[in-house]
Amino acid sequence: MKKKNLIGFMLAALLGVVFGVESCEQKAEKTIVPGAVWNDTDGNPINAHGGGLLYHEGVYYWYGEYKQGETVLPSWATWECYRTDVTGVSCYSSTDLVNWTFRGIVLPAVKDDPDHDLHPSKVLERPKVIYNKHTGKFVMWAHVESADYSKACAGVAVSDSPTGIFSYLGSFRPNDAMSRDQTLFVDDDGLAYHFYSSENNETLYISQLTDDYLRPSGHYTRNFIKESREAPAVFKHEGKYYLLTSGCTGWDPNQAELAVADSIMGPWTTIGNPCTGDDASNTFHAQSTYVQPVVGKPNCYIAMFDRWNKTDLADSRYVWLPMSFVDGKITIPWQAEWSLPK
Ligand code: DGJ
Repeated sequence: MKKKNLIGFMLAALLGVVFGVESCEQKAEKTIVPGAVWNDTDGNPINAHGGGLLYHEGVYYWYGEYKQGETVLPSWATWECYRTDVTGVSCYSSTDLVNWTFRGIVLPAVKDDPDHDLHPSKVLERPKVIYNKHTGKFVMWAHVESADYSKACAGVAVSDSPTGIFSYLGSFRPNDAMSRDQTLFVDDDGLAYHFYSSENNETLYISQLTDDYLRPSGHYTRNFIKESREAPAVFKHEGKYYLLTSGCTGWDPNQAELAVADSIMGPWTTIGNPCTGDDASNTFHAQSTYVQPVVGKPNCYIAMFDRWNKTDLADSRYVWLPMSFVDGKITIPWQAEWSLPK
């Protein structure tokens, strides 16, 4: 550990004793270095952007956009819609959240059909996977787009195994509304919800799913109306629901915002920017994608962000940080290096 980090760690430990700070950080050997190249167990950079985690039978699975090849700005572009070809959704597995093993491309691109949602010429973003205890299926929802981002649909795929291969079922506009940045959340009662930026990214929809998690149930709410929030990441803490989002500035970072609600369908109350420390005003040059509770460790939640490199999207990095809960206030303090409890 570097001297600056060691002082930070000692200060955090002292604060913890004096003020009852709760978070998951502690001194350990394997560290997470936000923004650094993070290699998998084969020594290759982890390639799972805009992703999310699934915990299933003692194993964490990390799904994300597998971004490969050149980043291009199409000649017809009227805005910075930098893109890479669709390659598919990747999956990594881990039991400690630090060492990740590549499990393959679990939803591959469809190269031989130019009209297919998963053709390389399209856009595939922010995949999330949840497990349905009743059907025994792993269900993936993703943002499925045309190259110019006018399609604004959700795509759904299923698998019998967390490591795929997932079968693609097709795409649609949930509740007849545009669907771009998105995430999924399964509540303690087994009901699942789809959070998505809609109405040209101006309004965030929360849509309860059918019991098989494959379609919208028809019960939905419109939230943060005309507030232009995207990159939703949801978690539940001590009976309340929390939603971390970004503003809408394309691939460029902006200020994060946390909101809280007693009911998952809202109403939601904005409680401000949870990020603190260096570059907190632009989310540490990153954008939210998921929040993962560390199983078996109360008050230990990891906030996951993407640090996009818009002109070389495949070299985008991950900023993972532990959340801090002090006297009921939730913050995400910047840390150059940290580790999880064993
Ligand atoms: C911001 C979104 O959060 C990303 O997933 C991606 O869609 C970019 N916009 C594209 O500009």
